[in-house]
Amino acid sequence: MPQTQTKDDDLIPAPSRVEGPSRRAFLLDRRTTLDAAPGTETTARWLRTTLGAAFGLPLPDTADENATHSIRLRLDDTLAPEAYRLDVLPDQVAEITGGGPAGVFWGAQTLRQLLGPDAFRKAPTKATAKEEPVAVVTTQTIEDAPRFGWRGLLLDVARHFLPKDDVLRYLDLLAAHKLNVLHLHLTDDQGWRIEIRRHPRLTEIGSWRARSKWGHRASPLWDETPHGGFYTQDDIREIVAYAAERHITVVPEIDLPGHSQAAIAAYPELGNTDVVDTTALTVWDTWGVNPNVLAPTEAVLRFYEGVFEEVLDLFPAATSPFVHVGGDECPKDQWKASPAAQARIEELGVGDEDGLQSWFIRHFDRWLTARGRRLIGWDEILEGGLAEGAAVSSWRGYAGGVAAAEAGHDVVMCPEQQVYLDHRQAPGEEEPMPIGYVRTLEDVYRFEPVPPGLSPEAAAHILGTQANVWTEVMENRSRIDYQVFPRLAAFAEVAWSALPAPEARDYTGFERRMHTHYRRLDALGVDYRPPAGPHPRQQRPGVLGRPLEGTPPIV
Ligand code: ACM
Repeated sequence: MPQTQTKDDDLIPAPSRVEGPSRRAFLLDRRTTLDAAPGTETTARWLRTTLGAAFGLPLPDTADENATHSIRLRLDDTLAPEAYRLDVLPDQVAEITGGGPAGVFWGAQTLRQLLGPDAFRKAPTKATAKEEPVAVVTTQTIEDAPRFGWRGLLLDVARHFLPKDDVLRYLDLLAAHKLNVLHLHLTDDQGWRIEIRRHPRLTEIGSWRARSKWGHRASPLWDETPHGGFYTQDDIREIVAYAAERHITVVPEIDLPGHSQAAIAAYPELGNTDVVDTTALTVWDTWGVNPNVLAPTEAVLRFYEGVFEEVLDLFPAATSPFVHVGGDECPKDQWKASPAAQARIEELGVGDEDGLQSWFIRHFDRWLTARGRRLIGWDEILEGGLAEGAAVSSWRGYAGGVAAAEAGHDVVMCPEQQVYLDHRQAPGEEEPMPIGYVRTLEDVYRFEPVPPGLSPEAAAHILGTQANVWTEVMENRSRIDYQVFPRLAAFAEVAWSALPAPEARDYTGFERRMHTHYRRLDALGVDYRPPAGPHPRQQRPGVLGRPLEGTPPIV
């Protein structure tokens, strides 16, 4: 790491307003108590388990609202629900006031950063005497609120299974960056990762594959290690509850009608049996867009209604209002060749294969809406008519999102050209399995979720933004860390802070603050890409990425 001066006040994401700091100080020590007003319990628990563990402090409750040596948690409904004010006061008091419980929690995240990198450890690194402070914060007042309500990260746990504990760790990493949506891509051609009791073969068969392509699909290499895994229903409940404690929404994605080979391998009748011997299909072992898509039958709808019934039970409406149905990259070749699919087009009067795709999506839009949920899908769901009430994840650039927002649909901006974190972050040969566009830390910092020229009405439909982590070339948590960090720190600032237009953003200032932030990531044990390039163990010499030469321009 560069030996540049670090300052605990170097907050990421940058807050809206800071007054101070003065020269007085708040000292965290063994006397510090917690005074948590009703409604702030999630933050009280989090402070005790996180800061308590990091510094070896008991942080006992106090009922004395004038106590000194105390962290006070308060609610003030004149603030927006996610807004907070952090007053670091003389008399050894830090008071966090949130518009709602989430605001208090984000304020606690800010306090943790101010307490220094050791606040990001899981146990104390030094022994402290009884009255000796373990951390010091200068007195100041911070007022802060997020720019967007949807500040997300997609984890593709289908291409490579991410063990449950690593998902929980990612929830902690999101919380540390004030991100509040985890989009879990639970199903794909290469694996089905969520236990569905009424269809047990989805995980018995669909969660395992014999081997995996090693590198991009153009690579000649294979990893012959069998790969797989899935989350039991209790694992999912634990993930959802852990997220809710951190004011994070989990958006489950069950991808249909494409990206379904793992499901078809488990239940061959889900596929287009009149054009392909689906009994011969296995869970896919390579990458790319797969022709084996769901058959447009009533039986397939009933099957997936059963899947979604269990999904809705596991992801309660209060914490998961949105359910993602995929809808991306569904090749129409099998439907074109299938007499049964052609007969369905006639029977349903949907015109063509695009109409069949819309028929799938509209069905689940109505089905989810009737159950008090909102459908969200990739921007292909715009083709052939967007289902009413549906929201769109705009991934193929801005255009889909712009069209959807202008038509009055809500949009999450996640254009692949800017915020697909599987894409390489530097042009060098040493980047591991480099794919896609070169998108540096600075590129992500200058990403603007709301495209210029959008009408104010349409701009109001941009719910927020999301960075997507597709894991074809990320076989474990360390590879994910490398692709995600440090870029997620820049993304978090884009999603949270009221930054100026991209060209006017102070990237130099951000880079300076990153020196402090790297210390926090070090304490957290994040295997980020060092600014000077990958450590040798982070490289994957000889494993092909894509494209093989050059880098495509931004389109
Ligand atoms: C996607 O990247 N296929 C959503």
